[in-house]
Amino acid sequence: MTETVLITGCSSGIGRETALSFLADGWEVYATARNPADVETLGEEGATIASLDVTEDDDVERVVSRIVDEHGHVDCLVNNAGYGQPGPVEDVPVDRVHDQFDVNLYGPLRLIRAVLPHMRERGTGTVVNVSSAAGRIAVPGMGIYCGSKFALEGVTDSLRGEVAEYGVDAVLVEPGPVDTDFHDRANGEIEGIERSGAYERFYQMYGDRQAVDGGMPGAVSPKEVADTVLDAANVQDPDPRYPVGTSAKVAEYGRFVPAKWRDRLYETFSELSTSDWAKKLFG
Ligand SMILES: NC(=O)c1ccc[n+]([C@@H]2O[C@H](COP(=O)([O-])OP(=O)(O)OC[C@H]3O[C@@H](n4cnc5c(N)ncnc54)[C@H](OP(=O)(O)O)[C@@H]3O)[C@@H](O)[C@H]2O)c1
Repeated sequence: MTETVLITGCSSGIGRETALSFLADGWEVYATARNPADVETLGEEGATIASLDVTEDDDVERVVSRIVDEHGHVDCLVNNAGYGQPGPVEDVPVDRVHDQFDVNLYGPLRLIRAVLPHMRERGTGTVVNVSSAAGRIAVPGMGIYCGSKFALEGVTDSLRGEVAEYGVDAVLVEPGPVDTDFHDRANGEIEGIERSGAYERFYQMYGDRQAVDGGMPGAVSPKEVADTVLDAANVQDPDPRYPVGTSAKVAEYGRFVPAKWRDRLYETFSELSTSDWAKKLFG
């Protein structure tokens, strides 16, 4: 029987590559996006395409019901859709915090709640939540994004213990910087923020100098993340979390460094990166 995967946020980046990796591996792929025109080329590659905004309950219910009607089962759910809301905590208005959590946390929850009854009934299934190294280590200037990914990590860790007895796995994939449109969009999300004037150093680091996630050195390809997601879906007994790329692996260990030392390291890094010589060197 062909295995079926539902993937969110396939219009670009990691989601698109994940759809291609599952297709190449022979899965029945439901590639979803807010605008179906953005996934038409995946349709030409063999995916079934559907419109799905993860903030819309009706979309989630419609797509999951369709898969169950057409195939009787969902073997894997990949919660990939997400974006980064940068900005110092004081400056980000609460409605933007809500939007960030609606996509990065409530979206995955809506989908998990929709697919789990079917997975439990069959006694098998894998939920892969695309988190981030920013879900393990929080940095100043990215508190709202980090908060959404920390929350996703906590929910996934709890979920894993709850569904294990039903043969369902819950897995976290935690990339460091990835070479996608993510950072362009994050920089766009900074623009609408009314700056208090108190935190220009952080705007300079994360927005003005385009250093959010994918804009950073050492970024991995979206294909590397996609293949990790596929591996997690294919193995019998997946690991709870899969850091992808050197930065993400370092972040795993960084958690064991006392918070005071981490703060000091970050302070030194931010002073260096905004210094005059660094500006001359990196623009
Ligand atoms: N790139 C990185 O450096 C990096 C690092 C760690 C983790 N991640 C995580 O990886 C995931 C994918 O990001 P990416 O790097 O591939 O960035 P991307 O190219 O910007 O892709 C993000 C995807 O999420 C979709 N999306 C946003 N809001 C949505 C909504 N309400 N409903 C459905 N889809 C929505 C976007 O669709 P639209 O085109 O319709 O906006 C797009 O398809 C995200 O969860 C991100 O947090 C990325």
